[in-house]
Amino acid sequence: MEKIVIGCDHAAVQMKNNVINHLKSRGFDVIDVGTYSEESCDYPDYAYAAAKKVATGEVEKGILICGTGIGMSIAANKVKGIRCALCDNLFSAEMTRRHNDSNMLSMGARVISNQLALKIVDMFLDTPFEGGRHQRRVEKLMAIENE
Ligand code: RB5
Repeated sequence: MEKIVIGCDHAAVQMKNNVINHLKSRGFDVIDVGTYSEESCDYPDYAYAAAKKVATGEVEKGILICGTGIGMSIAANKVKGIRCALCDNLFSAEMTRRHNDSNMLSMGARVISNQLALKIVDMFLDTPFEGGRHQRRVEKLMAIENE
């Protein structure tokens, strides 16, 4: 069973729970790093907890959700090994997998509907990396981490 990590802040608990139910119905083993209530919290804590699991190889991919998705994506991209894409449409979700080999998806619960979020999740998880010329570009991206 493929494992996937998911995290959110207080602005996105409901959307996260919808996404978790969807992932479970698709047969994924979901690791939920929280937050678990709508009590105000700090999104970097949850982004970091989830990103670490991807960066260490414990899981292959992760999903982050906050109000806009912006804070979560900024935080995750500070973790070595993470390529987190903020997506609010299906085209971006498809292209970030094909071209960037993104290993984390970020979404904004105050930006998109629950229905669109599930479609974006499916596109992200079901689209393969194209490799080829994109492999070189991804390698250049990751080399920046060692500067
Ligand atoms: C929380 O109010 C909000 O700032 C957070 O969910 C997110 O949108 C940050 O980028």
